[in-house]
Amino acid sequence: MTDNTARLTELAKRRGFFFQSSEAYGGVAGFYVYGPEGATLKENVQDAWRDRFVRREGHMEIESPTVMPEPVFEASGHLDGFDDMILECPECGTSHRADHLVEDNTDIEEAESIPIPEVEEIIAEAELVCPTCGTDLAGEPVDDFNLMFGTNIGPGSSSPGYLRPETAQGIFVEFPRLKEYARGQLPFGVAQVGPAYRNEISPRKGLIRLREFAQAELEHFIDPETDEPPLAEVEDVEVTLYSAAEQDADGGAPQTMTVGEAVAEDVITSDWVAYYLGVAKDWYARIGVDMDRFRYRQHNEGELAHYAADCWDAEADVTAPGAEPDWVEITGFAYRGDYDLSKHGEYADEDFTIFKQYDDPITVERATVDPDMSYLGPEFGGDAAAVADALEALAERDRSAFEGDEVSVDVDGEELTVPVEKTGFAVEETTESGEHITPHVVEPSFGVDRIVYTVLAHSYREEDLGEASEDASGEAASEADDEDEERTVLSLPPEVAPKTVAVFPLMDKDGLGERAREVADELRAAGFEVAYDASGSIGRRYRRQDEVGTPFCVTVDYDTLEDDSVTVRDRDSTAQARVGLDELATRLRTLRAGETSVSDL
Ligand code: GAP
Repeated sequence: MTDNTARLTELAKRRGFFFQSSEAYGGVAGFYVYGPEGATLKENVQDAWRDRFVRREGHMEIESPTVMPEPVFEASGHLDGFDDMILECPECGTSHRADHLVEDNTDIEEAESIPIPEVEEIIAEAELVCPTCGTDLAGEPVDDFNLMFGTNIGPGSSSPGYLRPETAQGIFVEFPRLKEYARGQLPFGVAQVGPAYRNEISPRKGLIRLREFAQAELEHFIDPETDEPPLAEVEDVEVTLYSAAEQDADGGAPQTMTVGEAVAEDVITSDWVAYYLGVAKDWYARIGVDMDRFRYRQHNEGELAHYAADCWDAEADVTAPGAEPDWVEITGFAYRGDYDLSKHGEYADEDFTIFKQYDDPITVERATVDPDMSYLGPEFGGDAAAVADALEALAERDRSAFEGDEVSVDVDGEELTVPVEKTGFAVEETTESGEHITPHVVEPSFGVDRIVYTVLAHSYREEDLGEASEDASGEAASEADDEDEERTVLSLPPEVAPKTVAVFPLMDKDGLGERAREVADELRAAGFEVAYDASGSIGRRYRRQDEVGTPFCVTVDYDTLEDDSVTVRDRDSTAQARVGLDELATRLRTLRAGETSVSDL
């Protein structure tokens, strides 16, 4: 943990952003509580996500259960393939993620994609030891560990279920009904924001690796033949891309280019993924992610999840500027192809396809068979039905096989011959108005907690107030004189800051407190998140609001009682302006929207 990270974690706990849960019982790793400030910050980030990825895109949002029955995960592949590598220390019994041991102690990055036997070799060659007790780990077996939390649905154990490891499955499973809401028309998108659960082997780094976390996922169902994203809307957005090829190349490095260039040069091969990388880049900037500490990194072949054909991660460096970077995956953008819907179509009883209507009906020739079972029965006995099925499949596949007097089919490895006249073979003309297709899925999958942490880490700064006063009004200097010379600031964008405005009475006497409370109530009624603070000096109160990222403070003083005006102070510049109470709500709205600044008032 860098000093900066430690100070941010301390601030988060002290000021009610986040802290480990069940601390009264010793705490449990991987489960965190969002305190009053953090819960609002997280909600605001989720609202901003909904605004951009659901409302603006015209998608729908659903809310499905977090527990799902086992067959869902047999179909999705999670039961068999959703594993991490576990290594147990023979001495102290601590479980470690083997790939993390390798990454933390060697130059190897992304060890997740290395096969288990090679990981075991690396551990032995690098003479890795247990981080907890120092025991040599050479020769210790590395195993697969399934990350899903299992449970039983109802009494007994006859109906196993799992806490969903991604919100996505709650969307895929309901596709047969969701397509009706979309009137059977592609493309359409379905979003879900909610908890996902993974029994991580070694949860770490606070909100970064949790066992219960929130995802905001969009499953965009498309016809890969005809549907195209509105790429022109994002083609000029600049993105920093660390492609798989650059990661593999000697001296390879991330490259900055526009989305349009990346598509033209085939750096991003899916237009849909490119579209969402462009949209998301602007969204991250909007909620306060520092674009100098942000990049997109492509998964290499071994790293791809079992369902993904291509995947780019949004990564943020969550250390302080200038420190050794610590890149954390905050979102995955995957092209999942038809994997999910095909699998559920195979395992479930419902139809996971879409009927795609042709512009004009088409006439097609269809080869059919109508085998003479009074011949096949006596001739092939118990295999007669299998022979009939094989004839039907062959007619569809290769009608020329029926051109001679006899036709041969393979049944369980045996070649069986049938006279063509007994097959009822015919070629008929039929009119078709469309076909059933399995939609492809483009999936931006956002990890809300990691994004919240990134926004906090990127907005955190420690500042000398003397410096702040140099480029702000004279009032800033008086803030420094008033109390400490330093302040800690979360420069959160007003859209996500837990409180938009704090209201203070200069002193809690002579009617100032009552007037300030009235102002706070009026602002709440006008829809603002408002803090009220009457204790300590004004400088102290500013410091307290700076620390939780409140962008504007309003002070009620003796002049207010005379002329109904208040002082509005800006968190970042510390600039101040006098504003009439009759226009305060309107001014704060324009300030919150970034349409004006306090210095301009
Ligand atoms: N549906 C696709 C999917 O779940 P993922 O890359 O496994 O993809 C998506 O997860 C996002 O969820 C990640 O980019 C990350 O931000 C977040 N995430 C995954 N595991 C997490 C964990 N243990 N703790 C916190 N966030 C996690």
